[in-house]
Amino acid sequence: MKILVIGGGGREHALVWKIAQSPRVRELFCAPGNPGIAGLATLVPIAPDHIEGLLLFAKGKKIDLTVVGPEYPLSLGIVDRFEEAGLRIFGPHCAAAEIETSKVFSKLLMEKYKIPTAEAEVMALDEAYQKVLTMKMPVVLKVEGLAAGKGVVIARNKKEAIEGLDSFRLMGDAACRVILEKYLTGVEASFFVVTDGKVALALSSAQDYKRIYDHDQGPNTGGMGAISPSPCMTKSLESEVMTKIVAPILKGLELEGRPYSGVLYVGLMLTSLGPYVLEFNARWGDPEAQAVLPRLKNDWVDVMEAVLSHRLHKIQLHWKRGKSVCVVLASKGYPGVYKKGEVILGLDKTASPHAMVFHAGVARQGDRWMTDGGRVLGVTALGRDFSEARGRVYQAVDPIFFNGMYFRRDIGAL
Ligand code: AMP
Ligand code: GLY
Repeated sequence: MKILVIGGGGREHALVWKIAQSPRVRELFCAPGNPGIAGLATLVPIAPDHIEGLLLFAKGKKIDLTVVGPEYPLSLGIVDRFEEAGLRIFGPHCAAAEIETSKVFSKLLMEKYKIPTAEAEVMALDEAYQKVLTMKMPVVLKVEGLAAGKGVVIARNKKEAIEGLDSFRLMGDAACRVILEKYLTGVEASFFVVTDGKVALALSSAQDYKRIYDHDQGPNTGGMGAISPSPCMTKSLESEVMTKIVAPILKGLELEGRPYSGVLYVGLMLTSLGPYVLEFNARWGDPEAQAVLPRLKNDWVDVMEAVLSHRLHKIQLHWKRGKSVCVVLASKGYPGVYKKGEVILGLDKTASPHAMVFHAGVARQGDRWMTDGGRVLGVTALGRDFSEARGRVYQAVDPIFFNGMYFRRDIGAL
């Protein structure tokens, strides 16, 4: 088979790494990919949002299966467009991906199909200024649309609530809708399923380390590390999530004429009243994919094909015993302003049978590896338990160095 993966971050490196292990793959391409992916796939210099360019490439190369990593091309309707052209592609249609791309749609859908989620009110941004003054604090403010991680504010008091609304106003559209939502307490977990819209298989869970500093201090980031499975996700909790959340949301999407296909990411708050949905995403998490995929024994190409041919009920997923820990190496200043173009040393010294290095913001100049983004690398290790995986991951990180390299030291410390 000829497979094209779309995207160029750490998540896509993990996907390409997993897909490359399938004996069914004859040729593997990645658009645009990154220098780490170049060792496993042919890089194609087409941006993930250049849908017509990707389509022309896939047709020209007679690609058998295209796999979409990030949400942006999904929101642009890449899956709809490829299918119209008769090409096979793994991921949800644009209408189903709205479960991630429209927080308002997602919230209203959850309410309609009685999925446990924080109580909320949807209104125009201008109205919200009055409303927050009457609400109990803390309150969670969410703005409609993809906001590159800046669309959620947890306001501890009225001043912060007004500042939060002001920050939404600065993002552009003053007439946009916002969600004012009850603040939930508990432990967060990321839960993944693969589905053809009717059958859903639980893929496993992960815990994302969202804050920049150790012990969950400082601002939110795209994710500074992940462990899998989530230590809080018991078998009974997993079946509760499947019956109370996954089954009704898939049914709801079908009834709304937006059947979902692909990987569904359920962002959960495990509260004393049970699991509540914080958000849905229409894709794998990053860096959760770098922690979950190395634990999966199945050929991922088989699973994706089973989705496309509605044979998912024939698949049983198998997982390696033990745990995984992924540590993200970031550029100093991330998630704020950071420098690019620092030389990365020691990448050739990390080879270990238990550890993998996934590239994200990396560029290649001649024979040198250079930093080219906020999150630069993700190092994952497996172990019998979190303690062993954690020991191995920090050992694999040890030889890697670049100026301003920053990483959390508490990933997997339970
Ligand atoms: P979201 O993009 O909706 O997942 O929100 C980003 C982060 O904000 C989540 O990972 C949580 O840490 C936090 N968050 C979102 N909604 C709530 C809520 N209702 N209660 C408490 N924290 C929340
Ligand atoms: N790590 C969170 C996300 O991928 O959305």
